Amino acid sequence: MVTEQPAARPANPRFSSGPCAKNPTFTLEKLADAPLGRSHRAAIGKQKLLAAIEGTREILGIPADYRIGIVPASDTGAVEMALWSMLGARGVEMLVWESFGAGWATDVTKQLKLDNVAVKTADYGTLPDLASVDFAKDVVFTWNGTTSGVRVANGDWIADDREGLTICDATSAAFAQDLPWDKLDVTTFSWQKVLGGEAAHGMIVLSPRAVERLESYTPAWPLPKIFRMTKGGKLIEGIFKGETINTPSMLAVEDYLAALDWARTVGGLKGLIARADANAKAVFDFCDAHDWIANLADDPATRSNTSVCVKFTDARIKDGAAFAKAVAKRLEAEGVAYDVGAYRDAPAGLRIWCGGTVETADVKALLPWLDWAFNAEIAAQ
Ligand SMILES: Cc1ncc(COP(=O)(O)O)c(C=O)c1O
Repeated sequence: MVTEQPAARPANPRFSSGPCAKNPTFTLEKLADAPLGRSHRAAIGKQKLLAAIEGTREILGIPADYRIGIVPASDTGAVEMALWSMLGARGVEMLVWESFGAGWATDVTKQLKLDNVAVKTADYGTLPDLASVDFAKDVVFTWNGTTSGVRVANGDWIADDREGLTICDATSAAFAQDLPWDKLDVTTFSWQKVLGGEAAHGMIVLSPRAVERLESYTPAWPLPKIFRMTKGGKLIEGIFKGETINTPSMLAVEDYLAALDWARTVGGLKGLIARADANAKAVFDFCDAHDWIANLADDPATRSNTSVCVKFTDARIKDGAAFAKAVAKRLEAEGVAYDVGAYRDAPAGLRIWCGGTVETADVKALLPWLDWAFNAEIAAQ
């Protein structure tokens, strides 16, 4: 039992699951080239926006015939524009295993009010039965469930000859996990997650089949300007070259470009995945070595390497939610881990962000503090 405080603290205690830690080389000076006070439609603005798009393609290995757009309202904006623009053409399957997927299912059933919708739900810690998914329908899912720490292990379950589209919220997976682009028709993410960029803008990645849907199907409901990707039945190609629908933050764009530059220095996608894997492994190993803590994900193959969620399993704990909150509070008060309480809708526990901007040395320095905070709280309750 550890009652003494560990000697060392993480150099950076930022383990929030979004906005996530800036990359370790970040300084505000790195943003000095931002074309502030200039039009995003001037040559310099357009060049930066196109560099953000093409840098994304390069690092994520997105095929040349996929469109990549920078859109308003972060990942939420990107997901909503896909749902409202494309759904309704055929039946829909919503795969839900945590809070964000549940939110998308609510929008499709209660706001869009589509009738041919099957919602397949699994408890926190598990996945729905992926073998039962009907790919004649459009399928909406979250690659990495940020609030449960459960991800799909790969895209093998997605049919190559699907008739419907796959619409994937990959915001806590992109830049940390392999995304099989041939299986994904619409993919969304935001800058504030794995690369530690700024909130505000979302990215939407469209396969040729997604573009075909946009050009061949007009929903029965009106679409606000910030969701519209077509004009007169044709894709607005400019959006995918950096002519954004409305005004972007050029400071956020500069920050994203700096994050992409940093990503290149750690070996691009491979390096980012390796960093997240090493961080997550440190937490997994800690859970294996202690019998009072466990990963929330039941199946090791589905454990997230970014939003690692853990639960306390000690029989002495009286009130699970209060206990977990108190542990998170102790960690924050000691300045060793900020924002690691489980998401508000998730089971009691902690969520430790392990994406590539976090240093493995910091995760390793945090873990003895977990031991300390757990034992301190057991003694205090
Ligand atoms: C899976 C998932 N979807 C959507 C969101 C919302 O993202 P944003 O606030 O960037 O719109 C989050 C944020 O944590 C998330 O984890």
